[in-house]
Amino acid sequence: MIVIENLKKKFKKDWVLKGVNLTVDKGETKVIIGTSGCGKTVLLKHIIGLLKPDNGKIWVDGEDITTMGFRQLNKIRHKFGMVFQSSALFDSMSVEENLKLALRCVSDISVEEARQHIRHCLALVGLKKVEQLYPTELSGGMKKRVAIARAIVHNPTYILYDEPTTGLDPITADTITQLINRLKEQLGVTSIVVSHDIISTYKIADKVAMLHQGKIHFEGRTEELRQTTDPIVKQFIEARAPKIESVWQLKGERNEVQK
Ligand SMILES: Nc1ncnc2c1ncn2[C@@H]1O[C@H](COP(=O)(O)OP(=O)(O)OP(=O)(O)O)[C@@H](O)[C@H]1O
Ligand SMILES: [Mg+2]
Repeated sequence: MIVIENLKKKFKKDWVLKGVNLTVDKGETKVIIGTSGCGKTVLLKHIIGLLKPDNGKIWVDGEDITTMGFRQLNKIRHKFGMVFQSSALFDSMSVEENLKLALRCVSDISVEEARQHIRHCLALVGLKKVEQLYPTELSGGMKKRVAIARAIVHNPTYILYDEPTTGLDPITADTITQLINRLKEQLGVTSIVVSHDIISTYKIADKVAMLHQGKIHFEGRTEELRQTTDPIVKQFIEARAPKIESVWQLKGERNEVQK
């Protein structure tokens, strides 16, 4: 179980997270939605201890990770598998080497056992005979599946996905959506998925949380998301942009139109 309490983070003078409270229960898939730049990736990075907050606590299975040193944090990180927004595979390494690297960090098994386990993890994401290929030889959807296989290679308790379907065509995106559900069933993992993809969100979420202006603005089940009358949430799920001038003003960006 993950409990986030009053999490605050600023970069220079800009507060990105202004008091996030969120609980992720064992076995559930929590989808975090929100506009670009609202702090979703920053939130995920805090959960795996890649960023330190300016305030607040993050409890992972009862342990506060925000006060941990490097060694302790490293142990906790083994509980997590992370699928990065960009897949983040090492281009100079084969698929097998990419997975082996993630596996070597956590377990002490023989070369042959590692090879078999890697094959098994790739099969779980529907890939066969790709071990010797390099990331540049793979399509976007395949890269994403390799990134997912790498995230599960050390049997994590939690998988964090950062926009797993972004940049993929609708059919390939749906295979990733199905895969997220399948891994939840087969491995019993708890998942946190950051997503812009509302179709996928409805298919995978046990609960949806919307991050807006540094806080969790909405949290509920998918039925509640569908039925919400909250104008900010409705605008997001119906993909209606407010007038561009007000979006730019909201983000503090320069309004090019008025120049
Ligand atoms: N290391 C950093 N240093 C300075 N600013 C940062 C850093 N990381 C993130 N930010 C800023 O924090 C804000 C939130 O970024 P984040 O990447 O979390 O957005 P996001 O919600 O994931 O957006 P997207 O949907 O486009 O991926 C942005 O304004 C970004 O520029
Ligand atoms: Mg992001």
